[in-house]
Amino acid sequence: YPQDSQIAGGRLSIGGCDAQDLAREFGTPAYVVAEEDLRSRAREFTAAMGDGEVVFASKAFPCTAVLQVFHEEGLSVDVASGGELALARKAGYTGERIVFHGNAKSAAELRAASEVGARIVVDNFDELDKLERLQAPVEVLIRVTPGVVADTHAAILTGHAGSKFGFSLAQAPEAIQRLTDAPWADLKGLHMHIGSQLFDLEPWRLAVEAIATLGTFGTYDLGGGLAVAYTHDRQPPTVAQYVETMKATADELLGPGKTLSIEPGRALVATAGVTLYTIESVKDVDLEDGAVRFVAVDGGMSDNMRPMLYDAPYDADLAHRVGEPGTPCTVVGKHCESGDVLIRETTLPDPKPGDVLATPVTGAYVYAMANNYNGVPRPPVVFCSGGSARLVVRRETYEDLYARDV
Ligand code: LLP
Repeated sequence: YPQDSQIAGGRLSIGGCDAQDLAREFGTPAYVVAEEDLRSRAREFTAAMGDGEVVFASKAFPCTAVLQVFHEEGLSVDVASGGELALARKAGYTGERIVFHGNAKSAAELRAASEVGARIVVDNFDELDKLERLQAPVEVLIRVTPGVVADTHAAILTGHAGSKFGFSLAQAPEAIQRLTDAPWADLKGLHMHIGSQLFDLEPWRLAVEAIATLGTFGTYDLGGGLAVAYTHDRQPPTVAQYVETMKATADELLGPGKTLSIEPGRALVATAGVTLYTIESVKDVDLEDGAVRFVAVDGGMSDNMRPMLYDAPYDADLAHRVGEPGTPCTVVGKHCESGDVLIRETTLPDPKPGDVLATPVTGAYVYAMANNYNGVPRPPVVFCSGGSARLVVRRETYEDLYARDV
């Protein structure tokens, strides 16, 4: 749970707001965000980075209010599309604090990014040709695929040989040459991002070793990827450990005095978010090899795709009985398919219809990947801080579901 949440007499409160009261006031499902947790994570990163740059990967929680908090905390922002660029602009970011990513940027997106003066991370030769045609003055980094395999789900691995992202080590020298020669380009340095939800720091070292063979630059962006603990099973390095390792590795392998950037997404927002659901039904199914208790909630794969896409583990509690021992159950959603399982195995103390169920560590890539499957309106985002709650994104309505019809 977020740093400023409390459990008193088994009752969960987030940012000083009682979770059951939040569920009553804003309805469920709802994404609750502890604003202080966002800020303290941002400060942890900026303090550790010193004069280096912390770039929030906005894809992890692309919501104006979240972007505004990080803007206030002095972070830069990574955008991976024209839409994310528009969100960043709406939240107040100016070009020098925007890093533009993507392996399939359109000419229109590149023009928009150049117009606001964003730093462009060039991914491929076709993009380079588009920029050549545009002839607009731009600051650029070159994304390099270091050819390193990190230990994470295959879908979120990006730095391996054969990745769709970036220039291979073999192609990079030509890209470097072309961008060094281009009068419109101000080549600052290299970028890499080896994957996401990484517990082990060693692959970063191997990746930095690989890009160090490409020459010397003033700036290096080492991407994001620091893991978060979704359950108690596995603890990632701390922010300080991770950042110190990045800085020491860069000093040693790239040379001292480099301008360093990192691009955390998940590690900035995951713990701040708690999703609240209402239990709608509890069903016991007897099988030959035991019984299963299905606890079905009023959301599911429309508000959190991560369990279905990456077998991502989560935990859950009843908001009024946190920490009590319980019996095994499977938390499922309301969607019309059996794959709609939010938590395969957890324990809950006598769950009943009407109870509020809380899933912690749901700030990252949850709101971001929500959808309207089965005509379910997407949940609201509620910020909690100092005992007060404010709605920052309203719940979708049924009218929203057909609002784009023509
Ligand atoms: N920089 C670049 C260029 C990226 O592509 C990403 C994430 C990040 C930074 C931030 O990575 P993080 O610090 O959050 O690991 N939907 C997946 C995660 C996809 C990550 C995509 N790129 C999930 O839910 O696990």
